[in-house]
Amino acid sequence: MTSRVKGTHDFLDLTLFNFVIKEIKAHAQHYHFSEIATPILEPVELFQRSLGTYTDVISKEMFLIDTKEDEERICLRPEATASTMRAFLQHHIEQTPWKVFSYGPMFRYERPQKGRFRQFHQINIEIIGSVAIAQDLQLIKMLDRFFAERLQLNNFALLINFLGCMDDRVIYRDKLYAFLSSEAAAGICDTCKIRKEKNILRIFDCKNPKCQEIYQQAPHSADHLCKACQSEWKQLQDGLSLLSVSFAYEPKLVRGLDYYTKTVFEFVSENLGAQNAFCGGGRYDQLATMLGSKKEYPALGAAIGIERLLLLLEPKKNELSLPEPPALHVILPMSPAQHMLALLLSDTLQAQNVCIDILAEGDSIKSMMRQTNRMGARYALILGADEQQNKTVTVKNMVIGEQETIAQIDLVAYLKQG
Ligand code: HAM
Repeated sequence: MTSRVKGTHDFLDLTLFNFVIKEIKAHAQHYHFSEIATPILEPVELFQRSLGTYTDVISKEMFLIDTKEDEERICLRPEATASTMRAFLQHHIEQTPWKVFSYGPMFRYERPQKGRFRQFHQINIEIIGSVAIAQDLQLIKMLDRFFAERLQLNNFALLINFLGCMDDRVIYRDKLYAFLSSEAAAGICDTCKIRKEKNILRIFDCKNPKCQEIYQQAPHSADHLCKACQSEWKQLQDGLSLLSVSFAYEPKLVRGLDYYTKTVFEFVSENLGAQNAFCGGGRYDQLATMLGSKKEYPALGAAIGIERLLLLLEPKKNELSLPEPPALHVILPMSPAQHMLALLLSDTLQAQNVCIDILAEGDSIKSMMRQTNRMGARYALILGADEQQNKTVTVKNMVIGEQETIAQIDLVAYLKQG
């Protein structure tokens, strides 16, 4: 037997998934976002230019497609922010801020574990062409409201940090480099020594307890901001308090992708275990120019990890207003001689939006009734030789067990009324 590819998964029941999508569509519309979709296939260069060559996603996790030598190198997208910016630039969108959302599968060649897959799904929300910190506040408030009110989650926290503008980031990297080169950081692990040279902010992701202890003393980006960024960082914190969004300042939150500037945040839940972030985002004011735009388009956004969200929702799904399936009625033809009649009847009923299934494989009435019961049917519609002859149906109410005979011609009205 062939099994599915490692790190992928089958959805055998999409009720909760579809519920989340339906809710985000309604929610995003309230905040005046429109829905877009970009391809799963993108040029490798798009992500190399935006996420950074030394990030984990680029250096280890890309799914590259084997194309002909003279063709451009393509990959399965690992995330959707770069794609959204590419679409914005490619279509010369003039009206800004461009507020869009999308959802779909992403691909990263990671070591699979609980909540971490090689093919997973994200909802992406992006605002391109806005510098105002008010947008950061509204985006975070929108997400917080989505989780707390629409999805009724309560066991989560919002972590925020401020990386500063590009100039601040350069200064901060130098400070961090100096710290890592000092006596205080002499004991860092070999991986962190490489990170120090290649992708210095990633040191904070190290799980090694000794490194963690050393980094308690590391300088914080929010302590090395220019005047304008200091003011924005204060506005962000004051604004969140004013909007009643609880948050915790997490100086070690740097996010794994190179395009971030200024605001970064993550929604985390201890119910998720090691992979505790179910939503992450921030500002990416330089991404447009990183992708070759002459004009700067300050921007921000976030992505929600759907699988991790579903892990949080699964235990509380009874509290959600999930859509009820329509009442099901099952036709039981007693022998193949009634199959054609069963098909004709079911066709008439389906045309009237009645939900119908036919049991064409049953051996005895007893086993067919048992199966009808398991299917959760409201009525069993029994068709035997007598019913065929008399143009009737024996209708059994599966809830109260009562049975009666009615004319086939009256069946639609009968089922619709009860
Ligand atoms: P990210 O933090 O890489 O950010 O991913 C966002 C979320 O996707 C994570 O918090 C997590 O819930 C989910 N996720 C990531 N990798 C996996 C995986 N291997 N398996 C399951 N879930 C996963 C981004 O992708 C940015 N594009 C977010 C953004 C949008 N920033 C600005 N705009």
